Amino acid sequence: MKIAIFSSCKYDHDFLKQYNTGHELTFFESTLTLKNVTLTKGFDALCLFVNDQANSEVLYALKENGVRLILLRCAGYNNVNIEVAAKTGIKVLRVPAYSPEAVAEHAMAMILTLNRKTHKAYNRIREGNFSLDGLMGFNLHNCKVALIGTGNIGKAFYRLLKGFGCRVAAYDPYPDLNLISEGLIYDNLEEVLRDAEVVSLHCPLSEENHHMINTNTLKLFKKGAMLINTSRGGLIDTQDVITSLKSGHLGYLGLDVYEQESKLFFHDLSGDIIQDDLISRLISFPNVLITSHQGFFTREAMQQIAEVTFANADAFESGISLVNEVDK
Ligand code: NAI
Repeated sequence: MKIAIFSSCKYDHDFLKQYNTGHELTFFESTLTLKNVTLTKGFDALCLFVNDQANSEVLYALKENGVRLILLRCAGYNNVNIEVAAKTGIKVLRVPAYSPEAVAEHAMAMILTLNRKTHKAYNRIREGNFSLDGLMGFNLHNCKVALIGTGNIGKAFYRLLKGFGCRVAAYDPYPDLNLISEGLIYDNLEEVLRDAEVVSLHCPLSEENHHMINTNTLKLFKKGAMLINTSRGGLIDTQDVITSLKSGHLGYLGLDVYEQESKLFFHDLSGDIIQDDLISRLISFPNVLITSHQGFFTREAMQQIAEVTFANADAFESGISLVNEVDK
């Protein structure tokens, strides 16, 4: 098949070329939007990433252009209008689980960095400043952690938290019986958030949970608590979180995702004037750590993404069952 790969970076070229099963690949650095959808003419399939926009208008244009398949090289699919895709007959396949440990370990890295301030210690020592003032952290052992979403990533993260001796309570509309037998306690969202010292989000973004972390839910956190979001930016009302940080109620924030990330993440904007005032405000806090959607970014995950993406393409082409289809 002729496959157009959008939002592609050098590392995508390397892995997708290495694991290609014989398709004709064309790489575009740009993100797919309505403005550049004409680029898709003549392609059988598109390979998209988290910030490519396959909304209703784009999907109808894709159908016009003869595109029959969307291969998401990610797990989340909130950027694709699945209902409209079904109407147009365009199949949507994804990579449901690629090294969930990669994202879980990144969430843990964010907690440890924010807590023990190793990023600050690194810079201090390089300047010959060996003082400990301002570097005090807290023990994770016995710390109360709220785990929101216990799918592939949440499960891997729970096991890391257990290793650290945390007290974990989880919310998921579909509790996992295996995790219950491993000692995980489930409760409703309010109870899980109440008095939590660390809250970590591991659920997909949907219309129902858009801005689930807002002024009202933040009030339930313990004063000085830490919020970690490695899932999707839209789960958090950024303005409400900034207000809570300013008041000192929210003590730390770790973000690997951001609601308006499509204009920022994965690009080198170091010579530009950042126009997004919310991210600029977030960057200015000493207790906020932002990474540019790199939770997935390990060698093992990149290999699995490439392998499953081409297995999905091959299954579509040969008409066998589509185990990784996203349907409504
Ligand atoms: P998954 O599909 O295995 O698990 C998601 C879990 O969330 C399910 O158990 C589901 O029942 C639960 N859930 C659904 N709605 C919920 C809600 N409102 N509240 C609490 N739980 C809810 O997904 P997986 O693989 O664990 O990934 C989770 C999310 O992580 C993805 O949807 C994606 O947004 C994000 N992600 C981020 C990456 C990164 O690089 N930062 C990489 C991969 C995924």
